[in-house]
Amino acid sequence: MIRVFKMPLEVAAFADSVRRQGKRLALVPTMGFLHDGHVSLMREGASRADMVAASIFVNPTQFGPNEDLSRYPRDMAGDLAKCERAGVSVVYAPEPAAVYPPGYQTYVDVTNASQGLCGAKRPGHFRGVATVVTKLLALFRPHVALFGEKDFQQLKVIEALNRDLDLGCDIVGMPIVREADGLAMSSRNAYLSADERKRALALSRGLLAAQALVRGGESEVEPLLAVIRRELQASDVREDYVEIVDAHTLRPISRIEPGVPSRALVAGFVGTTRLVDNMSV
Ligand code: PAJ
Repeated sequence: MIRVFKMPLEVAAFADSVRRQGKRLALVPTMGFLHDGHVSLMREGASRADMVAASIFVNPTQFGPNEDLSRYPRDMAGDLAKCERAGVSVVYAPEPAAVYPPGYQTYVDVTNASQGLCGAKRPGHFRGVATVVTKLLALFRPHVALFGEKDFQQLKVIEALNRDLDLGCDIVGMPIVREADGLAMSSRNAYLSADERKRALALSRGLLAAQALVRGGESEVEPLLAVIRRELQASDVREDYVEIVDAHTLRPISRIEPGVPSRALVAGFVGTTRLVDNMSV
């Protein structure tokens, strides 16, 4: 049976006992409403450790005042069943007051990686992400923690805090899991109407078109941005940003250089739902 913890002290005792037994622990932090993207992280965790823990916590500090915190989708019973099937033995599902009790005042700011892209469009977002992930890594002290490339900038932020704060965890980035038609899986896809669901394909279509241009020999970034924007406009998806960056530094580039990994990232609103996607180019 899967064990569910609500309090940090329970997790600390569990983490102690895992360490005492000399077992390797994997951690998969999530906000729940789990899909096959989350499950892929759990299964990879199971292959890299003796035991997999997951957290399910809709973290209030990473939501802006006009964002979807209050209506973020939830399904604890369904999530626990998926965790169990994916080989997770422990789930940490705290209430916000257990993570941020009265008097809470400590935040983690990853200064460089949080700039630009989603960091520029969602002020404070990565401070909230970095804070909760630091707390989870400090509490579980996992040997390995798994995150999706779906949130590419988030992965860079977490790699940086793990390094800078000497947390000593092996941070593993996993490929984006997509629906059969190419849409990147996301808990927020649940917000889409049938019509919006079709239009949402513009993100992955645009990125694929950019990839195809690069394969055809294009190395200037401008035409790549243009082809992505064309797809967004054709489907009435409102651009939040479209950028092509150095995949290591996340700094915008103007040319794709051979041997230098680059990444195209897009964020857009389909109706009121904000979606993100990215691909290597
Ligand atoms: P959440 O959006 O629930 O995602 C949890 C993890 O699943 C993240 O590492 C995310 O990148 C990964 N993920 C989401 N969709 C994916 C997909 N289609 N393919 C592969 N991986 C995917 O990201 C968060 O929660 C939060 O910010 C969190 C890190 C838990 C901190 O609150």
